[in-house]
Amino acid sequence: MTSEALKKAREFEAQYGPHIPAAERPAFHATPTIGWMNDPNGFSMYRGECHLFYQYHPYSNEWGPMHWGHLRTKDFIRWERLPAALAPDEAYDASGCFSGGAIELPDGRQMLMYTGVQRAHNAEGFIQDVQTQCVAIGDGVDYEKHALNPVLSGKDLPKGGSTIDFRDPKIWRETDGTYYVVIGNRTEDESGAILMYKSADGLNWEFMRTLDRCHNQYGRMWECPDFFALDGKQVIFTSPQEMNPIGLEFHAGNGTLCLMGGYDAEKGFTRGRVQAIDYGLDFYAPQTLEAPDRRRIMIAWMQNWSTVGAKPFHCRWFGQMTLPRELSVRNGRLYQAPVRELEKYRGPAVIHHHITVCGESNLPGVQGRLVDMTVTVRPMGQGSYRWFRLHVAKDGQHDTIIRYKPDESTLKIDRTRSGLPHDIVHTRSFLVRPNNGEIKLRVILDRFSVEVFVNDGEAAASAVIYTPQEADAITFEAGGQVLIDVEKYDLIFNEDKED
Ligand code: FRU
Repeated sequence: MTSEALKKAREFEAQYGPHIPAAERPAFHATPTIGWMNDPNGFSMYRGECHLFYQYHPYSNEWGPMHWGHLRTKDFIRWERLPAALAPDEAYDASGCFSGGAIELPDGRQMLMYTGVQRAHNAEGFIQDVQTQCVAIGDGVDYEKHALNPVLSGKDLPKGGSTIDFRDPKIWRETDGTYYVVIGNRTEDESGAILMYKSADGLNWEFMRTLDRCHNQYGRMWECPDFFALDGKQVIFTSPQEMNPIGLEFHAGNGTLCLMGGYDAEKGFTRGRVQAIDYGLDFYAPQTLEAPDRRRIMIAWMQNWSTVGAKPFHCRWFGQMTLPRELSVRNGRLYQAPVRELEKYRGPAVIHHHITVCGESNLPGVQGRLVDMTVTVRPMGQGSYRWFRLHVAKDGQHDTIIRYKPDESTLKIDRTRSGLPHDIVHTRSFLVRPNNGEIKLRVILDRFSVEVFVNDGEAAASAVIYTPQEADAITFEAGGQVLIDVEKYDLIFNEDKED
């Protein structure tokens, strides 16, 4: 049965969503039908297609009582809009249907698992969240919240676990039919932990273990955990709140954490390498799925909580997802590459080999705002250059800069002049590893974003821009002299087919 709240949301998005012209949205990054979007939810395969739900407040471009919006894709690039899937319409989720996951059930139905939020007075009379885990089962469009909800609540927490911060279940099923879920929780030291539960039916859950804990080392509360096997490692993703910066690896505020290690059913998770997931300005709350061809694919909210106020005046949608990315582990590091399906949308190649850059110049056929471009930068002997800058989305007033400094091995993304006239963080630098002095930058441009993949994906950096589309120049600049190779494709979409 569709509740009044869900009916209202569906009518609202059906009425006003189509008013937003396709040209005012990204061409291939997922956006909300209307209003506000944050975390990806339930990013998973169902009946051979990929479903992506998202934290959704259709009625304004600001966060509000959380619904789940719904998109579907056959190729991770073109998104089809489906009606909102969940609305806050039960006592246990009256203050919001927060983030969670989804799976296909053996009987062919789809199960969503999410955090139900209600607000209650605590012992001191203060109003605070009570967060529990709930499920809804459906056919890929309509979902029924389960009579057993909430299926996990305060009584299922280990000692010291907080019911105020108990959220973001990521569910999966192993080949033996057992269901597992990882959930973020705050512990008695006020920092985060990832709890792991198992179940025979997805409804009755048993606490297994605390998979890993923050101990106030990497931020405080750990949001949106994910846990999966990748190239012989076990990987935990989580998004910590209130991070203190650590070198150029972790910036202050809401960050992302990749914990790589091993997993043993007896001993649990043993943590090895720790790294950030994305080094840019806008990236949070990633989720992964395993595609039918076994690729591990990740998508994330391409935003930063601390800059959500920086948006175009009266915009009718706000928040977008990153490009889905294929993950792998190489030399103990997380690698990311744009999903290969993007290549189907490439126009003819524009190739320039062995070009000397000295000062600033452009190249024939190299401009545009829907672009997939790889630039390889090589020194012309020892110390031939002090810095190299790639300028994109450029005109007389605008400029987004990706700068490499060989003496520091740093890459900087700078969107100071990218159409966001707000006093927010606009630059971020991170360490990269040149190969024999060479650095390779793959840059994906959509109308409102730049994503950079360094050296075949050893680091990625994402940033939202709102540069007017007419600013479409791309230039190359060196302090000194460098040699570059450029391989550039326009990305071509038939927008009539959208939605
Ligand atoms: C992360 C988050 C989640 C929560 C959701 C609420 O961005 O804070 O922990 O479920 O957003 O919208």
